[in-house]
Amino acid sequence: MKGVILAGGIGSRLRPLTKVTNKHLLPVFDRPMIYYPLETLCRAGINEIMIVTGGNSAGDFLKLLGNGRDFGLKHVNYTYQEGEGGIADALRLCKHFAEEQRLCVILGDNIIQNDISPYARRFEQQPGGARLLIKEVPDPQRFGVPEFEGGRIVRIEEKPSLPKSPYAVTGVYFYDHRVFEYIAQLQPSGRNELEITDVNNAYINAEDLCFDVLEGWWTDAGEFESLRLATNLVAEERRKSALVSASR
Ligand code: DAU
Repeated sequence: MKGVILAGGIGSRLRPLTKVTNKHLLPVFDRPMIYYPLETLCRAGINEIMIVTGGNSAGDFLKLLGNGRDFGLKHVNYTYQEGEGGIADALRLCKHFAEEQRLCVILGDNIIQNDISPYARRFEQQPGGARLLIKEVPDPQRFGVPEFEGGRIVRIEEKPSLPKSPYAVTGVYFYDHRVFEYIAQLQPSGRNELEITDVNNAYINAEDLCFDVLEGWWTDAGEFESLRLATNLVAEERRKSALVSASR
């Protein structure tokens, strides 16, 4: 399975922090934001990785990450999304890279506590389709929200004012090669973006979508409050691991 990190967009919700730099280069405690999704993929043993950048400072990703030696990688692929056409528009740019293989796609502002390997292995055992990771949150209206019937997801709504469940669809998506067929059929949403939620609904309509409830903490870091939360969660994690190493 190959990995994709989507780090395009203009980070408008974090202005003025993102006025001269890309959101994913901002610090989350002791590392630039992009380090976290990259580590998440590497920890899951995914080492063929494409990073989609966009907006400001795209060249700085290369300066920061190079060919990924600090992450144990031999090579990193990069591409550039012009404009802010949405998450599915950014993913569309990875069709050649995917070469019909399965993908683990992760949003560049998603920070995850645990190793996602168990979910990746489950997806590899699926005959095909898609697999999502969902998480119970106090503010589902900020996210894609699944609606359930008989234990299955029957629909996902993007940022609903009246969420039909307390779950968020996290920014970790497992897809087979059909993802690019579904993206090709998308129409821009009301906010003029190609929505990843519409891709996921296409898999639901094809009865080809599975999910797991993600264990451990998870947050995005795309707004001031969630950036602060991400920083605090990582700081606490570092504090705990320092205590564990000191007690050995
Ligand atoms: O964090 C999970 C949520 O991410 C999901 O629950 C939602 O269903 C999904 O739409 C998304 O919502 P956001 O409103 O938080 O997405 P945002 O526009 O902040 O973009 C998230 C990341 O996706 C961003 O850090 C970089 C990438 N992206 C986004 C856009 C709009 C791109 O690469 N290109 C883009 O054009």
